[in-house]
Amino acid sequence: AAAAAVVIHRRMKKPGTWAKVMEIVKDFEEKCATPVSRLRQVSDAMIVEMHAGLASEGGSKLKMLISYVDNLPNGREKGLFYALDLGGTNFRVLRLQLGGRGRGIVNQQFAEVAIPPSLMTGTSAELFDFIVAELAQFVAQEGSDFEPTPGRQRELGFTFSFPVMQTSIASGTLLKWTKGFNINDTVGKDVVAELTKSMERHGLDMRVAALVNDTVGTLAGGRFVNDDVVAAVILGTGSNAAYIERANAIPKWQGPLPRSGEMVINMEWGNFKSAHLPLTEYDLELDAESLNPGEQIYEKVMSGMYLGEIIRRVLCWLAQEAAFFGDTVPPKLKVPFILGTPAISAMHQDTSHDLKVVINRFKETFEISNTTLKMRLVIVQICNIVATRGARLSAAGILSILRKMGRDTIKEGEKRQRAVIGMDGGLYEHYTEYRKSLESCLNELLGEEVSGTIALELASDGSGIGAAVLAASHSLYLGRDD
Ligand code: GLC
Repeated sequence: AAAAAVVIHRRMKKPGTWAKVMEIVKDFEEKCATPVSRLRQVSDAMIVEMHAGLASEGGSKLKMLISYVDNLPNGREKGLFYALDLGGTNFRVLRLQLGGRGRGIVNQQFAEVAIPPSLMTGTSAELFDFIVAELAQFVAQEGSDFEPTPGRQRELGFTFSFPVMQTSIASGTLLKWTKGFNINDTVGKDVVAELTKSMERHGLDMRVAALVNDTVGTLAGGRFVNDDVVAAVILGTGSNAAYIERANAIPKWQGPLPRSGEMVINMEWGNFKSAHLPLTEYDLELDAESLNPGEQIYEKVMSGMYLGEIIRRVLCWLAQEAAFFGDTVPPKLKVPFILGTPAISAMHQDTSHDLKVVINRFKETFEISNTTLKMRLVIVQICNIVATRGARLSAAGILSILRKMGRDTIKEGEKRQRAVIGMDGGLYEHYTEYRKSLESCLNELLGEEVSGTIALELASDGSGIGAAVLAASHSLYLGRDD
């Protein structure tokens, strides 16, 4: 009798299934819509928060952190400098020989290491000891084609891509972890002190000359080669932006007015939140079950760590409510974060007539091999909905920066200098559809005339290079030829 009941249930459920699929997808698409009118509301809300964050510490969800970078590189930086770049799934160490005036980088080497996931949620000492061990090994391999300043301690720029309240150019306390890191005993500590202690434990004689966020590093690295760079945006595992603000537009800044009159601000825009953001029940559930519920909401709808997870949740719902993959939900589909951005981007950009890439990725990722072309078209559509929403929301963020800098309009007869935004992160670099969608949306928001004066430029690896260059300009020794 039980078997018979199952059969009847199935027969009753089948005919309505495809209609149900279409209904769920349509509903999702509508909730993710980002018409220009809505993006303008998002941007208005972001600008309000930018002002609030600059006015007082803790005044806004947008931290608008002071970077202590008030002088950007000018190409005269000189000498041998190291950088350590920690912030995502990998960390990198770099060695740069800067040639001084007009000579740029004359020699460079780097190494990249994956961070074992267990270290992302372990203890502070374990994480720092792991990276310092790699750094020490890298320093030991310095060849004779690099020229350290004789008798001088080696200096390092530390790119640490998490929200840090800086107390100087080379010190600052961690406010919180983001992006899948969660190590309680680092929060509230000076991360340079943590790094330095670990270097002492390893007998590595090095001085941290600059502590920078990856956005600030990218801005500095961009400026090192291009005078028109005024802001930087990271679209990678996480997302964030930095830009050059007028020092007298930062009421919370208590220090002396910098000679340049400017200060680089690390927005920490990932933590932005507004009722105007198009959020769905899938986003809300993702957030509720994340390591940091209620935080980094903007980041959770647009950055690389989360796009696949949103899509997986939609697919799970389709499997459960509309028997999308048959009568049961395939077990692998229930594994959080199993679907990464490389798979999303490959499927989204699949140009084969029968969507072969989708077939393969579904086999590899979920062990699902019974998709029909009709189903695969739905899968691609879901990727498109999620990527488009993320890309257009990031364009709204860029618009906010340009508006804050007064670069979103041109007065009649005015001849505008070009403004370049340095872009970095795997999402921007490797996901072509995402990038195209961002760019066309920004053009749509700015209009043709202004668009012509703004350029987004890939600054691959800019953050590490920028940190090394900032270490040079803040060197205790001669890091510059003036
Ligand atoms: C996260 C971090 C931020 C970083 C961004 C990009 O949002 O909080 O500091 O810049 O990821 O890596």
